[in-house]
Amino acid sequence: MNPSRPAGACRALVIFGATGDLARRMLWPSLYALHRDGLLPDPFQLVGAATRPVPDAAFVERVREAILASSNGDHFDQAAFESFAGRIRYVAVDTGSEGGLASLEAALAPGEGGVVYYLSTAPEHFGPICQQLGRSGLAGAGCRVVVEKPIGTSTETALAVNEAIGTVFAERQVFRIDHYLGKEAVQNLLALRFANAIFEPLWNSNAIEQVQITVAETVGIEGRWGYYDGAGALRDMVQSHLMQLLCLVAMEPPASFTPSAVRNEKVKVLWSLRPFTRESVATHTVRGQYAAGYVEGRPVPGYLEEEGARPASDTESFVALRAQVDNWRWAGVPFYLRTGKRMRQRSSEIVIQFKAAPFNIFAGIGQQLTANVLLIKLQPHETITLTLMHKKPGLNEVHLGEVPLNLSLADALGAGRRRIAYERMLLDVLRDNPALFVRRDEVEAAWRWIDGIVEGWQAAGQKVRPYDAGSWGPSAAIALTERNGHSWRE
Ligand code: BG6
Repeated sequence: MNPSRPAGACRALVIFGATGDLARRMLWPSLYALHRDGLLPDPFQLVGAATRPVPDAAFVERVREAILASSNGDHFDQAAFESFAGRIRYVAVDTGSEGGLASLEAALAPGEGGVVYYLSTAPEHFGPICQQLGRSGLAGAGCRVVVEKPIGTSTETALAVNEAIGTVFAERQVFRIDHYLGKEAVQNLLALRFANAIFEPLWNSNAIEQVQITVAETVGIEGRWGYYDGAGALRDMVQSHLMQLLCLVAMEPPASFTPSAVRNEKVKVLWSLRPFTRESVATHTVRGQYAAGYVEGRPVPGYLEEEGARPASDTESFVALRAQVDNWRWAGVPFYLRTGKRMRQRSSEIVIQFKAAPFNIFAGIGQQLTANVLLIKLQPHETITLTLMHKKPGLNEVHLGEVPLNLSLADALGAGRRRIAYERMLLDVLRDNPALFVRRDEVEAAWRWIDGIVEGWQAAGQKVRPYDAGSWGPSAAIALTERNGHSWRE
């Protein structure tokens, strides 16, 4: 255990929504791993807060089960868990009523250092919880608040949520999580782009024909109908994860690796996104919803047959769109974004397709050239592949083919333990490092762009198109790229 307490260190972390899905699947397993690796300060209290009363021992048992069920369960160590459990308290709170945080106040051990409040609740509770923390005197200068996406459901609601948090916490105390930024492979994008000189001269519209960003999932809505049906793929995935990936691909080199320098460049990309109009929404976006089908050989129900489904829901589980970054670097380069549930494969990747060679000297001998592609695979395996044209070996006439120059990061760097993205994010909150968190202006700029799409869909009455579970989405998504002479790389 780390016995030292660095300056500015926190003395406790409180999770609101401590029995919820996110806390169970990600937060407790991540905190356990940080504890086991000696990365939490000492002393450091962990307080679970939720509405129902649960005895401490029963809560600790739930935490143990959650760790065992997670990917960190493979490295479970009973002795480490026992000392971890020694940090945990559970309190029942009523965030909706005056004095509803008295139990929390009583449970927090006094001491030096601030408290981190992790709001793992629905966004409508963010404001009320912050207000209550403020009124109870629990939100002092050393405290931090962590909030999950989605921050609101539109610019207007995001502004209101940010405003409500902002009346209690200063912006430097607010950590807005987009867990994609905690993924090793996503952070590696910055290293790939800005620690290697070879890419920069080519990273623009002179050399790049198109960019594709795909986050395909095989899972369905995983029992989250209540949340998901109100959000849909555009708000759940595009507004956050895909737009963050887009920013990392399209941003200018920051002047330094400081949090504000990096986040300034990202927000500039968001401001450069061409707003959608009613007309362009119709031609540049596709909404889909999965019907029953087969995923990885297993039959799965359609979206409308999921548990708790609302009949005739028009919520999209798939979105494909063509974005345009209107600045000097990217003028004219389409950025195709695509995400969906119940797709053929789990795969998150960025495809940078370069322009074709300006002239084909092999045309006279019947050889076609394929443009080079840089494929950055983020999930499930991290690989970087550059496709090159080569001459197939042999004494016959010249035959050309495509060959991948393939780098598996796990093979090259050793696999190590795959960490949950939240481990990194939680550690950065404790270290008071906001670089990987989304700033207020970023969230609001992203919503402005998304609002344009939602308004266009509503104005045109653009309905979801069905696609079979286990496919790559509705055929209209293929037409979206083909209209420009492009095609999805699958
Ligand atoms: C979450 C979304 O933010 O990201 C989920 O709410 C989605 O709907 C998940 O399944 C995907 O995350 P990952 O890390 O599994 O790619």
